[in-house]
Amino acid sequence: MVEIVNVNKSFGDLKVLQGINIHINDHEIYGIIGQSGAGKSTLLRCINGLESYDSGDIIVDGVKVNIHDKNQLRQLQKNMGMIFQNFNLLSRLNVYDNVALPMKFWGMKTNTPEAREKILGLLRLVGLEDKKDARPRELSGGQMQRVAIARALVLDPKILLCDEATSALDPGITKEILALLQKINDEMGITIIVVTHQMEVVKQICQRVSYIKGGRVLAEGKPEDLFVRPNKDIKGFLQENSDLLPKEGVNIQMFFTDESSDEPVITGMARNLGIDFSICWGKLEDFRSNVFGSLVINVKHEDQQKVCDYLDQAKVVWEVLE
Ligand SMILES: Nc1ncnc2c1ncn2[C@@H]1O[C@H](COP(=O)(O)OP(=O)(O)OP(=O)(O)O)[C@@H](O)[C@H]1O
Ligand SMILES: [Mg+2]
Repeated sequence: MVEIVNVNKSFGDLKVLQGINIHINDHEIYGIIGQSGAGKSTLLRCINGLESYDSGDIIVDGVKVNIHDKNQLRQLQKNMGMIFQNFNLLSRLNVYDNVALPMKFWGMKTNTPEAREKILGLLRLVGLEDKKDARPRELSGGQMQRVAIARALVLDPKILLCDEATSALDPGITKEILALLQKINDEMGITIIVVTHQMEVVKQICQRVSYIKGGRVLAEGKPEDLFVRPNKDIKGFLQENSDLLPKEGVNIQMFFTDESSDEPVITGMARNLGIDFSICWGKLEDFRSNVFGSLVINVKHEDQQKVCDYLDQAKVVWEVLE
């Protein structure tokens, strides 16, 4: 659905995007994560033609994004809904008219029976049918984002671009908005691109994710593969450190990213090897509908070989931490 091939962009001397290659499939929920200033919003704005890029290709649904071809760009932008952190609703318009706004821009009538059915149907989808006459200031942040989502869908786009769409919302409301995005993806088959600095967002809904830093993609894959066993760059991003691990003995980290996470490995190992060890660090987290994570245990030097052999035969991925 979206092909980004070797894309570069600078603002003056500042290289904001450097050799970006990303392929996003039809119906996928794809995440782009990275620190502030990494270039995430710029990349999103290049995808929907709000910003130009210097070299490379961005192809959306088979059409190259070219901001100089105004007619073609208009068509492309019709195919891409977008939502933002600050919702961007017009305060003088009620909910219904905010959702109808893109239709107005396209010169469509917004009070015909078909238009009403469309708009009210979307308000039903986002759970705000009873708020159609409310003004934005009468809504909570979560409700405002729901209106923005309905508005982004009113022209039947194939792609929904989300730029920090949940960053201003509390964790509970964030979960609800993400569940709504998941429903839109499931029921309407819309491809969703999620730009965020929030790990939770990526873990809850993204099938794949790119980590970008300094305008480069430093890692790409399933969220569980990137975050359960992070490489050096992503460790820095997650701010995971092991300063608190014991200095005595051997620290062994185990990773659970597949069915092995259902096996009682730890208790089984203690019983089978007849040894004691302590659990000194761990995390278990939800990734879409699974729980994955990692544990660090501290074992005596003389037990190290036994433990490593046991983990191998139990098909657990492990490493000794230096
Ligand atoms: N119009 C512009 N002119 C000059 N520099 C810009 C412009 N837009 C963005 N930049 C710079 O490009 C870099 C990337 O910005 P961008 O907004 O894409 O980052 P981001 O990853 O979205 O960050 P955040 O998480 O804070 O939203 C930053 O250093 C920013 O200052
Ligand atoms: Mg941004």
